[in-house]
Amino acid sequence: MKKTILVTGGAGYIGSITILELLRNTDFEVVSLDNYLNSSPKTFQRIKKITGKDILNYEIDLRDLNSLRKVFENQKIEGIIHFAALKSVPESLAKPHWYYDNNFNSQLNIMKCCEEFGVQNLIFSSSCSVYGEVQNLPVDENTPLSEVKCPYAHTKRVGEEMLSFWAHQSGVNTIALRYFNPVGADPSGLLGEDPRNTPTNLVPVITGSAIGILPPVKVFGSDYPTRDGSCIRDYVHVNDIADAHIKALIYLFEHKNTSFFDIINLGTGSGVTVLEMIQAFEKVTGQKLNYILSNRRDGDVAQIYSNPQKAKKLLNWIPQYDVNQMMETAWKWQINLKNEI
Ligand code: NAD
Ligand code: WQD
Repeated sequence: MKKTILVTGGAGYIGSITILELLRNTDFEVVSLDNYLNSSPKTFQRIKKITGKDILNYEIDLRDLNSLRKVFENQKIEGIIHFAALKSVPESLAKPHWYYDNNFNSQLNIMKCCEEFGVQNLIFSSSCSVYGEVQNLPVDENTPLSEVKCPYAHTKRVGEEMLSFWAHQSGVNTIALRYFNPVGADPSGLLGEDPRNTPTNLVPVITGSAIGILPPVKVFGSDYPTRDGSCIRDYVHVNDIADAHIKALIYLFEHKNTSFFDIINLGTGSGVTVLEMIQAFEKVTGQKLNYILSNRRDGDVAQIYSNPQKAKKLLNWIPQYDVNQMMETAWKWQINLKNEI
C-alpha cells in the first residue's frame, strides 16, 4: 500500500518543487494543502505539464481546524511536510501579529491533527534566521542561537521549541530542517518561484531586474568585513532542498531517528558574496546586470553559512547544484514565466 504524504504550502516555491521531486522519484501518493495566500493554482498546471499528473490540492486555510480535519478524514495521511507559512522578513516587521497568527496557528493545527489522526511523521520548515547574528562560522546545529532579528524568524524559533517539547510528549517523529538561502528553479525551466508579493530575496530581484520587471538591483552594503565588502550567504538549490525533504521522510519511515525531535541544517557549506552571485548571473547569462552599490539593509547579518555535515551523515544528503546552476535555472524560469500564457 502506497503511503500518502500531505504537503502543506504545496503551491508555494519549495513545496511545489518538493511535490515535483516526490512524483519523479518516489512511490508516495501526494496531496497538497494551500490557500494560495502567496501562490496560485497555476502551480498545479505546471506540475501537470511536467509530470502528466494531477495533484489534489485542498484550498484551505490551515488555521481553520474543522476544514483541516476533513483532509485527514478523507485519506490516511502517513507523513506531513509542513511548508505553509508566511515568510517575508520585512513584511513580518510591518505586520507581526499576522505572522504570529498565521504561522503559529497553522502549526498548532497540524500538531493537533497529527495526534487526532495518528500521523507519526512530520517535517517542519525552519530557517537559518533562527541563529540570528553568529560569531563562529560555519554554523552547526549546536551553535547557540542569538537574538532573532524579526517576527518571522521568531515564529520559526518558537515553532521549533514547541515541536521539540511536543514531539517527545506525543511520540510524533519530527525533524526541523533549517534552510539557508534556497534559490534557483527546476532545471526544466517550467517550475519555480512565482509569489503574489513583489520579491525581495536576492536571486528573484536579480532575475526580475534583468528581465525588466524590477528596478536596478541595489547591493545592500559594500563595506562589510568580507572579501569584497558585500554580505555572505549560503545559497542552496531548491531541488537539493526538495531532495533533502524526501531523504528526511524516508529516514523517519525507516525508523532511523534516535530521538523524537531533531534539527538539521540544509546548506552547501560555502559562503558566497552578493557580488559573486551577480558575477555568476552575468557569466551564465552572458549579460551585464544593472546594479548599484547601496546602503546596508536593516537586520542583515554580515555573513552566515552552514556546516552541512549532519545532513550528510544522517540523510546522506549532498547538494548537487553549484552557484552557476542556481543562476542558470533561476534565469531559465524567469524567461519562461514571462512568456507563459
Ligand atoms: P512560499 O510563500 O512560496 O510558500 C508557502 C505557501 O504556504 C504559499 O503557497 C502560501 O499560499 C501557503 N500558506 C501560507 N499560509 C497558509 C495558511 N494559513 N493556510 C494554507 N496555506 C498557507 O514560501 P517558500 O519559499 O516555499 O517557503 C516554504 C517554507 O520554507 C516556509 O515555511 C518558509 O518559512 C520556509 N523557508 C523558506 C526559505 C526561503 O528562502 N524560501 C528559507 C527558509 C525557510
Ligand atoms: C541575501 C543577500 C542581502 C536583496 C532571508 C531570511 C532567511 C531565508 C532567506 C526564510 C543579503 C542581499 C538582497 C537585494 C541585496 N528565508 N540583497 N539586494 O536576508 O539572507 O535571508 O531569506 O527563512 O531565513 O532571513 O535573504 O535573499 O533577502 O538576501 O543586496 O535587493 O542579498 O543584503 O546579503 P536573507 P535575501
